[in-house]
Amino acid sequence: MVSSNANQLRYDGRVVIVTGAGAGLGREYALLFGSRGAKVVVNDLGGNFHGQGKSNAADKVVDEIRAAGGTAVADYNSVVDGDKIIQTAMEAFGRVDILINNAGILRDKSLARISDEDWNLIQDVHLKGSFLTTRAVWPIMKKQNYGRIIMTSSNSGVYGNFGQANYSAAKLGLVGLANTVAIEGAKNNIHCNVIVPTAASRMTEGILPEILFNELKPKLIAPVVAYLCHESCEDTGAIIESAAGWATKVHFVRGKGSILRTSIDEVVTPEYVKTVWHQVTDMSNAKHLNAIGEASLSLVDVLEKLREGKNAENSVTETYKFNFKDVILYALGVGATVSNESDLRFLYENHPDFSVIPTFFILPGLLSVMGSNLTATAIPHASFDLTNILHGEQYIELFDSVPTDGILTTTTSVIDVLDKKSGALVITQSDSYDENGTLIARGQSSTFVVGAGNFNGKSKASPNVKALVANPKRSPDASVQIKTTRNQAALYRLSGDLNPLHIDPGFSAIAGYKTPILHGLCSMGISVKAVLNQYGADDSNLFKAAKVRFSKPVLPSQTLRVDMWKEPNNRVCFRTVVVETNTEVLSGAYVDFKKIIVKPNMTAGQSLQSDALFTAIKERIAENEAKAKAINAVFLYKITDAGKVVKEWVLDLKSPKVYEGPVQGKADTTMTISDGDFVDLAMGKLQPQAAFMKGKLKITGNIMLAQKLAPLLKTEAKL
Ligand code: NAI
Repeated sequence: MVSSNANQLRYDGRVVIVTGAGAGLGREYALLFGSRGAKVVVNDLGGNFHGQGKSNAADKVVDEIRAAGGTAVADYNSVVDGDKIIQTAMEAFGRVDILINNAGILRDKSLARISDEDWNLIQDVHLKGSFLTTRAVWPIMKKQNYGRIIMTSSNSGVYGNFGQANYSAAKLGLVGLANTVAIEGAKNNIHCNVIVPTAASRMTEGILPEILFNELKPKLIAPVVAYLCHESCEDTGAIIESAAGWATKVHFVRGKGSILRTSIDEVVTPEYVKTVWHQVTDMSNAKHLNAIGEASLSLVDVLEKLREGKNAENSVTETYKFNFKDVILYALGVGATVSNESDLRFLYENHPDFSVIPTFFILPGLLSVMGSNLTATAIPHASFDLTNILHGEQYIELFDSVPTDGILTTTTSVIDVLDKKSGALVITQSDSYDENGTLIARGQSSTFVVGAGNFNGKSKASPNVKALVANPKRSPDASVQIKTTRNQAALYRLSGDLNPLHIDPGFSAIAGYKTPILHGLCSMGISVKAVLNQYGADDSNLFKAAKVRFSKPVLPSQTLRVDMWKEPNNRVCFRTVVVETNTEVLSGAYVDFKKIIVKPNMTAGQSLQSDALFTAIKERIAENEAKAKAINAVFLYKITDAGKVVKEWVLDLKSPKVYEGPVQGKADTTMTISDGDFVDLAMGKLQPQAAFMKGKLKITGNIMLAQKLAPLLKTEAKL
């Protein structure tokens, strides 16, 4: 016997009423309470399970309790006279501490066959009976500032069950009753909980499968109810399901839902409801609300967002966990290589300057958009899939010094939806915060949905959308070539953008490409890395922001040339061109730095005197194309300053065109000359032959061609 155990939960001095305690579950409850010191009122009408007839069932149970040394009285009132049962308890024991509403009957019929009597009786016995006993016991419990009440529900109520419409309704009604009783009783230490039992009894005989029936002993549930009614149990308003020696809490949950309009001024339409229905019914982020107040609070939140013009469903919040491996994998994906000593800081976690290539921080926002319905919700009028969306533009801004690992919480919101006629442009903004709540990165991304235009939307972006900056007209101040590899997209995609367009030939064919294309963001990463190398000393902490437009696709293994222009206010404009096809792939792009550090062997900007001359030569050649073409050669000028090559210029007279190096293709003649000597040469102050003899002009390749060029420069340039 456990009674000798000092830890035994006892009910000495407590008075317990168990309704319907003549049989089944109620009997087990009564016996258990009786065995643990409680004075028990064994209520039972004594009818059969349809509620007909009478018996002395209650007395039998009372006898059992007494035989075991306990205290009990029988009560033969129906629960529909609930106050009389309470009266019995008061007369016998002078108080009531615990009320277990357990009595019940069945009148099972399919809906159409339920008579008014069957309906009313079931509601009366289960729902009204529990109300009447509870109402009668209320002042007593309030006065003694203590009470434990149990309502008995059923899975038939929670889930429904064929042939039990009346019973299901009453049983779930009891949950509602308990919810409010728990709230109203709280300040008087009156707890009210719900039990959802499954047990073998005369009620379930023939309903439960035999194999289960024998295992579902009511005795196994009684301890759960007993604990719920003990003074040490703090739960109230809980629904506890129990059967076969097992118990669990049951909850109502609410999904995240969806806002049904984009602003407070808009009406809700059935069409919009249809569009977002999958979100309305999505239970993946469902949660239980502890109180009705929480339900109202979240509605206030919705209204506030609508008033601010922010549809909460037009935003998602995701966490992004990353460590050095993610950082290094990304660096490899955008072409960092151990062949470049300066790349080691992006590839080796123990490098003293180990750091993240700034464009890495586009990923958290991008991945949260890809995994969400943001775009779909933003353009409810259109449908799309991975084959008809294009990444239009991308912006990334870094705020603090950037971490190399951690957890970022990124909120992405739709900030603009533009009608571009041939398609819709959905612009999202992603703000990523570190674990301390510090804003680390802001991305803006525009997705072009082909064929989703013409919806009478606005065509101009809001001012908070970062604009592109046109490249300056002059020749680039620096150009760098990077050859991508055949595996570039296969490697880059491992950082998270798994769109099959970049790996699956069958898929890219459906999207209209001959082969899988490189991710636009990979080309952006490669280009920004090149700009960071040229003007930011490879120091990610000097990076402020970058913006690009993805104008044409790049194929893995093509060569990218990044043309850069150093501009005022620490800005470097750039564009990226596929060398093999001479196609511009990134347009209107720029990188903003906190400070520019020009690569030591390069002089950026217009600081060379020869720059102006080459610009002039360019114009003259354009005016005299035929003469230039007649020379039919490509000349590479290497301009030195203090003995070092600081800039390269190419006079491609075959095309003809003049541009800053490196040379595209092969030069016929390469000339190396200092900035000053080149000016003297062009001005006629220095004769080419003399310059050559004195070693001021070094010529490799076809020397004869160089002689042809000299008069052209001198006469045509008129410098
Ligand atoms: P049971 O039929 O063995 O016991 C119910 C008792 O309530 C009977 O002794 C009956 O005479 C008494 N009773 C009926 N009408 C009454 C009234 N008007 N006033 C006073 N006493 C009355 O049934 P069982 O299985 O023990 O059920 C107990 C409770 O648990 C019921 O409320 C039932 O709906 C509920 N329940 C039982 C499940 C099970 O698997 N046994 C499943 C879900 C709920």
